[in-house]
Amino acid sequence: MNISVDRAEAEQKDASDALAPYRASFFIPPREDGSDSIYLCGHSLGLQPRGVARIFNEELDHWAELGVEGHFASTRPWLPYHEQLTASLAKLTGAMVTEVVAMNSLTVNLHLMLASFYRPRAGREAIVIEKRAFSSDQYAVESQIRHHGFDPHTALIELSPREGEDTLRTEDICAVIEREGSRIATVMLSGVQYLTGQRFDIEAITRCARKHGCMVGFDLAHAIGNVPLRLHDWGVDFAVWCSYKYLNAGPGAIGGCFVHDRHIRSPNLPRFAGWWGHDKSTRFEMPAAFHPIATAEGWQVSNPSIFAAAPLLASLPLFDAAGMDKLRAKSLQLTGYLESQLLARLNDELSIITPKDPEMRGCQLSLRLHRPAVEARAVFDSLAKQGVICDWREPDIIRVAPVPLYNSFVDVWEFVAALEQALK
Ligand SMILES: Cc1ncc(COP(=O)(O)O)c(C=O)c1O
Repeated sequence: MNISVDRAEAEQKDASDALAPYRASFFIPPREDGSDSIYLCGHSLGLQPRGVARIFNEELDHWAELGVEGHFASTRPWLPYHEQLTASLAKLTGAMVTEVVAMNSLTVNLHLMLASFYRPRAGREAIVIEKRAFSSDQYAVESQIRHHGFDPHTALIELSPREGEDTLRTEDICAVIEREGSRIATVMLSGVQYLTGQRFDIEAITRCARKHGCMVGFDLAHAIGNVPLRLHDWGVDFAVWCSYKYLNAGPGAIGGCFVHDRHIRSPNLPRFAGWWGHDKSTRFEMPAAFHPIATAEGWQVSNPSIFAAAPLLASLPLFDAAGMDKLRAKSLQLTGYLESQLLARLNDELSIITPKDPEMRGCQLSLRLHRPAVEARAVFDSLAKQGVICDWREPDIIRVAPVPLYNSFVDVWEFVAALEQALK
């Protein structure tokens, strides 16, 4: 291998990448010497769009100058603030604008959705989840099962990959739903799995779950802004997400929810209500009876944090401008390039546990080094010393995500070179 020829190839790819200019819209955390770090951690926390500070400062100014009047009289009134986010979120999720709402954070939204979409009764009390689901999802569903007076030991159906495999097969997920369907109340899976980077076939799983009368929802934390979604057409009942990963809205930023149109005006669907979900035309009359807004906004409980929502006003226009189709096309190339470089240069040293089929993954690849966990951890630490920011997930996984909005082919090349160095 000729290193300089190889790097020149990456530079060439960047030079012909129409989305490359978007990198300049973000702050790239610097190394100690001031050069850009190799930031491949957008699956955990996306980078800060440069436009955020301006919007934050404007909101601070509105508050300073207008006080409570900022709710109504500001250039971006706080009262309908979240509505500015709806159209872009609908595009990213493949939803009608009436089916999505920005609110709360992910796990809170999951509980609110389960209040409506997990309605267990004796004989049909089970929830299907992955055995290695993100811990918060696991806690949420277990606590919901207990809340309804059932026992997670019997009411939780956990899906595991086959012996010797790291990811779940769609056919196996559907086989469980086929077999257990009559006792399943709700199927709750990821859009993209946080640890392995596996993208689930939401359409196929939804079809199968609905055939058996189960509600079906997805945690899109690692999917939104990463892979194309068509939640409405796929018929998903509900979905939740956070916006601090691929949506680049900063730590603890506002999350979101999708509720399928067929449920929005459903009179029998219970929910946990709050004043922000009440009909906007009478909200401030403080009526005794709750009348939900006839959109996904009807699931809001509290007035949203303006400062948790503001960064999305800087970030979502970048998605609108770039277009998810183009971002996905670049993502396929960028992650494909990462995979091919790893296979060409380090095939004996590691396994990629993320599916090989590009359709079954987003931008993240999860790597398992062929070394004992302690040594693998030392390799990861050495990467960090070289200014590479990716992450380590117990027990032995390094997650790396080249994000098409701000990562370059040279980033990927540099990462593989740093990993090669770390392995020495
Ligand atoms: C897949 C997944 N689900 C749930 C969560 C929890 O999110 P929150 O703290 O916003 O509730 C995370 C956080 O990273 C996550 O990655």
